Amino acid sequence: MAETLTLTATDKAGRYEEILPQIASVTADETDRTANLANTAAILKEAFDFFWVGFYEVKSTDGGEAQLVLGPFQGPLACTRIRRGRGVCGTAWAERRTLVVPDVDLFPGHIACSSLSRSEIVVPIFAPDSDEVVAVIDIDSREPATFDDTDRRHLERLAVLLSARW
Ligand code: SME
Repeated sequence: MAETLTLTATDKAGRYEEILPQIASVTADETDRTANLANTAAILKEAFDFFWVGFYEVKSTDGGEAQLVLGPFQGPLACTRIRRGRGVCGTAWAERRTLVVPDVDLFPGHIACSSLSRSEIVVPIFAPDSDEVVAVIDIDSREPATFDDTDRRHLERLAVLLSARW
């Protein structure tokens, strides 16, 4: 496994093109999901210096209700549990689709883990060959309107890659 990232592209799309094969390579021979999600979060953080980047995994609770539970991440302390339909993450899970939020203050029910977060993208990861959401990729920015269709497209490709490792 390569221990260092190759980062030469200066534009966003180019940088995603650069890191996706490296994430594929780093996670190819590792069967442990936590290890793979942890390295993926580290690579995204290093490539883009996102304010917060990480994963919430769908897990069943003692009460029987499934919730999103905090997984590997890079960035400040975060909320540990999110209910289905709550916040940006819980809404992306319930609606099974990517949500790009240019201004978190305008998203009804946004969960402010950090008051410094201004914009956000949440991308669902589906179980292989299924429409069941098993986790979400969550990325936060300190700036408004950080995320666009380029992020959505590439992060959805990342979600497919990670789904194959589930
Ligand atoms: N803002 C998210 C909660 C997770 S933190 O951003 C890490 C939401 O509204 O679901």
